[in-house]
Amino acid sequence: MNWWQNESRHTTVFCYFQEHNFYRIRNIHTNKMNLINKLNETTAVIREYFGEAPEIGIVLGSGLGNFKANMKVACEIPYEDIPHFPLTTVEGHGGSLIFGTMSGKTVVCMAGRFHFYEGYAPEDVAFPMRVMKWLGVKTVLLSNAAGGMNPAFHVGDLMIINDHISLFQQNPLIGPNLEELGPRFPDMSEPYSHELIAKAKAIAAGLDIPLHEGVYAGVTGPTFETRAEYKMLHILGADAVGMSTVQEVIVARHMGLPVFALSVITDLGIRDQLNTITHHEVLEAAAAAEPKMTAIFKALIAQL
Ligand code: HPA
Repeated sequence: MNWWQNESRHTTVFCYFQEHNFYRIRNIHTNKMNLINKLNETTAVIREYFGEAPEIGIVLGSGLGNFKANMKVACEIPYEDIPHFPLTTVEGHGGSLIFGTMSGKTVVCMAGRFHFYEGYAPEDVAFPMRVMKWLGVKTVLLSNAAGGMNPAFHVGDLMIINDHISLFQQNPLIGPNLEELGPRFPDMSEPYSHELIAKAKAIAAGLDIPLHEGVYAGVTGPTFETRAEYKMLHILGADAVGMSTVQEVIVARHMGLPVFALSVITDLGIRDQLNTITHHEVLEAAAAAEPKMTAIFKALIAQL
């Protein structure tokens, strides 16, 4: 007689599945409670530092941390003092939540973000977005450093992201859905607000800042792309590539927050000559282009 024909063995296997399923359901329930509890705990601590509700959430990309010099800073909280916040591990990413005003609006700014390549789970990468929403944020502005693949792009250019392609960055909404946050199947036909894009274009034209507009490919990193990969991404329809943003945008859109995002082109993926790219070069190019990005964000915030 084979083992699967043995009655008692059968029962054991069945019990195992039954028990396993029970734990799965219990874990799903616990995780849901955990996220809401975590958001409540995190925002309660933040409110002890800064009691006002920020209207606008800003995320700064690699090398773009000087932005705060343009804010009237009321309070800066290092990530290590915020419960449930991950810690940044990357050079060029600060690691604090900054509250204050800009263009007369109350803002919260993440100086330093979390990336999938650092080993964080997608929901950890996106956790600060949810915290922003829990704090009362109504609009999010994101920036990042990206490699250019569109032949019209140069190092130091800015690109408005009008759409994205997620390549292997795991979707942060995988798992049980929290209806308190958003729907099970969120629409992604307008991940980047058309209205905000139109405003930013008008602002840039007024300030004489040249702007590109295009598609951002979100990859996992941490390697920069091979020459063949840059080519492939361009053929797939992307104009720029980077290792952030997509998971944050998905979570923001899940919660119904309008998103505006700007890439600083810090390197060029498709060049005839041998093309090495270093993190240092990325940080330098981002810092050089930062004043243009800041000017656009500042004027856009004034119009929100
Ligand atoms: N590839 C991926 N991520 C990046 C790049 C790049 O070329 N530049 C800045 N972030």
